[in-house]
Amino acid sequence: MLCLIDQTVLPHEKKYIRCYTCNDVAQAIKDMIVRGAPAIGVSAAYGLVLGAAEYKSDDIEGFINHIEAAAETLRKTRPTAVNLFWAIQRMLKVVRDNKDKPVDDIKDMMLNEANNMAQEDIEINRRIGRWGQELIKDGDVILTHCNAGALATVGYGTALGVIRAAHEAGKNISVFADETRPYLQGARLTAWELMEDGIPVTLITDNMAGYFMKNGTITAVIVGADRIAANGDVANKIGTYSLAVLAKENDIPFYVAAPVSTLDLSLESGQHIPIEERDEREVTHIGGIRVAPYGVKVANPAFDVTPHIYVTAIITELGVVYPPYCENLKKLIKK
Ligand code: MRU
Repeated sequence: MLCLIDQTVLPHEKKYIRCYTCNDVAQAIKDMIVRGAPAIGVSAAYGLVLGAAEYKSDDIEGFINHIEAAAETLRKTRPTAVNLFWAIQRMLKVVRDNKDKPVDDIKDMMLNEANNMAQEDIEINRRIGRWGQELIKDGDVILTHCNAGALATVGYGTALGVIRAAHEAGKNISVFADETRPYLQGARLTAWELMEDGIPVTLITDNMAGYFMKNGTITAVIVGADRIAANGDVANKIGTYSLAVLAKENDIPFYVAAPVSTLDLSLESGQHIPIEERDEREVTHIGGIRVAPYGVKVANPAFDVTPHIYVTAIITELGVVYPPYCENLKKLIKK
């Protein structure tokens, strides 16, 4: 059984959802009970562990087909965050590399791999935090978008990991959190996480960001990422691109914090990153209340792509990468 905190009802309710099958996990990812690129990836890994447990025979060919089908169900949940595909690949490798072993042994190995992934994720985020906090100055006021925190990972967070590390290092920092329409990850999750940690946070609506950059309040921007192409283009929550343009216009550093598992060097540029389109209800409604006229045409892309020219640096667990990203991202993963 996989127990997930239900992110759809935070911060008002702290409720847990129990997943007993691979389909339960796929549904939880689709419904954004669990969200955020690394959290989606690790949840999918456990989804495959549950999928493996559902298989009752010891026929290895049948087992492999069963797991491939489960992997396909999970792949179909959300298209943008590459961590999902990365985690599934890593789990399938365990199955394929051990197909000469008894099915029950492979099931144990899959559980081990998912546990390793979960533990590694926290360590990776702490490393991102250590590298990233060196870029943060005492007195910085940091704008962040969406939620790239403990909730979006197994723990500690990527963008919020950097903020947490700077705070732990004794730097006097504060955070501006964009509410992040339409799903309100900033208002509901980031504001809550930072308040729980006692890190000063001010909540703003997305359209206030330019105002606070122009008047000198914001001194740095840090966001997470769902997929980073080989040239450094970054897919992240819708609205990230606007922030990056505003940051450049106002001479404010724009940092992206993400694990190496978010890199997709098979894509030359961000142009090829699939962008998820979500239900129009997320736009027409706020907190379950309809705010738009019936029959209005709606668009709801969940992510956008920030061209690499706007990205000051990418903070990973292996170090901080600066332009030119084409060369430097390749060098990073060869380290
Ligand atoms: O739609 P979501 O809430 O899954 O989108 C999340 C983001 O865009 C995050 O910034 C990203 O996944 C990084 S989380 C460490």
